Amino acid sequence: MRFAPPTPTMPASAAAVKGTGMTQEEHTLEQELSTWARAAFRAAFPALAEAPDFAAPVARTAQEAHGDAQCNAAMGLARTLRKPPRAIAEAAAAAAPPHPAVAAVEVAGPGFLNLRIDDAWAARRLEAAAADPRLGTPAPGAGRTLVLDYSSPNVAKPMHVGHIRSTVIGNALDRLHRFLGYRVIADNHLGDWGTQFGILILGYRHFADPVALEAAPVEELERIYVASYERAREDEAWRDAARRELVKLQQGDPENRALWTRFVELSRQEFDRIYARLGVRFDLTRGESHYNEALPDLIARMEREGLARESEGALVVDLEDEGLPVCLVRKRDGGFNYATTDLATVLDRVQAFAPEAIVYVTDERQQLHFRQVFAVARRLGVRTRLAHVWFGLMRLPEGTFSTREGNVIKLERLLDEAEERALALVRASSPDLPEAQQRAIARAVGLGAVKYADLSQHPQSLVTFTWDKALALDGNSAPYLQYAFARIASVRDKYAERFDAAALDRHPIRFTDPSERRLALHLLRFPDAVLRAASAFRPSLLADYLYELAQAYSRFYQNVPFLRAPEGVRESRVRICGAVARALRAGLDLLGIETPDRI
Ligand code: ARG
Repeated sequence: MRFAPPTPTMPASAAAVKGTGMTQEEHTLEQELSTWARAAFRAAFPALAEAPDFAAPVARTAQEAHGDAQCNAAMGLARTLRKPPRAIAEAAAAAAPPHPAVAAVEVAGPGFLNLRIDDAWAARRLEAAAADPRLGTPAPGAGRTLVLDYSSPNVAKPMHVGHIRSTVIGNALDRLHRFLGYRVIADNHLGDWGTQFGILILGYRHFADPVALEAAPVEELERIYVASYERAREDEAWRDAARRELVKLQQGDPENRALWTRFVELSRQEFDRIYARLGVRFDLTRGESHYNEALPDLIARMEREGLARESEGALVVDLEDEGLPVCLVRKRDGGFNYATTDLATVLDRVQAFAPEAIVYVTDERQQLHFRQVFAVARRLGVRTRLAHVWFGLMRLPEGTFSTREGNVIKLERLLDEAEERALALVRASSPDLPEAQQRAIARAVGLGAVKYADLSQHPQSLVTFTWDKALALDGNSAPYLQYAFARIASVRDKYAERFDAAALDRHPIRFTDPSERRLALHLLRFPDAVLRAASAFRPSLLADYLYELAQAYSRFYQNVPFLRAPEGVRESRVRICGAVARALRAGLDLLGIETPDRI
């Protein structure tokens, strides 16, 4: 075991990170320790200095008994350095430069470097984080652009559960990246073009019900579409008529154009109502129709460059080398399809925004589509990172909302029900509040419950939504976290009732109980949790972090007195509470969930 020499403590904001010329604030805890570990390995093995990619990531230990953080780089170096990993780790530990955050280094097992974080350092760092609304989170996205394609429902059709998940997950990714400083272009890629409009227009002319259209436009449009579609299946003349309507629309016939515009507007009004309710905003709503004009040129280019070939009258791109089926880019009847539009969209976005990445959020059924589109885009010279973030379809309780019959009205009913159920909860917890305030809180809790039930799951796992789980006050749910927030926020108020709140910051943060230290270290990991959730495109990683934070808090709360603790310790604890409240509020906000001061 080796202890780093004692170092004078100084506020984190002023301390320079050795050799980088940057201040600690610009690095997360894990980044800082990883930089240090890399230096340790390089000091022991100068050959590593020539390997620019060599990294020695330090992550949190799985078990507390192994210290606060761990680096297992020695295992990966055994082959290159031709030494047993344990010897490599020992050499690194012995050669490690001092770092104020590292109180002790220990080599364990086959060659792990286990670190113990210095208490005083952690306390100073926490003081700085607690005073910062970002809790010390850096903004690595500054100057970088991300296009996020999410929600993207289809006109004249109700949003199905896939669109809802896309909206909730996409919006969390949107918030996470903006928080990290990215310029995010959130684009709602509406399905507002295609053969279905011929069928819809024809159907509309024959069996539109103006009253129903007024009352529930999207529902009525879908009814019309289904009726017309069914007729087209049996009736050839009807099919031909639908095709003629489509051609007229494509050629700009004013009447059909006006109908189409109306369908788009009616649908958008309903979608917008849902977005407003969910707190979702887009920078752009460029539907598929936006790219119409670009399609013929794109196809001409693909033919010219020999990227596409004729196949039974259609035009396709062979993707055999990539183990993918051919990608159809022009149908036999000369029409373009979903893939063609997506290719034009990629090129347009690359040109217009020069993004570092374009990210698509849809359900799992579109995996092949995006693999194909991305492969063809590469051949068209696109270098931008393209990512498909997919999720499984969530199962919803019987009768509430199902994939087949789910519709916009029912989604709104689901949200209504969430708010009603939350209202019962709020009435029980805060009977003294005026009704209007109870309702406002219930709105935040109900919506939060629905969103969190989605966001807290691994996106690719099969999830069944249940009210009991979503609204549980004692489980991994939004109400649990919101309730924890409200309770924690009140600690400060209670303190201010009895003591001088201005005195709080005059007392340093310090750890006198293991539960306190554990909570503090977890707080210092907030920036890493945010970064990880953003870079993996997995909001659930942040949800996991927040849940664990609330649990660490509740252990702290149960173990030690706050207001009855001796002066100094009391202030330190109240300050730690303040940091927890801040982290919960900032973290839930990144998930699109509000934190009322009371529940
Ligand atoms: N409108 C499509 C659907 O409902 C989703 C669009 C996703 N975005 C895209 N660029 N293809 O399935």
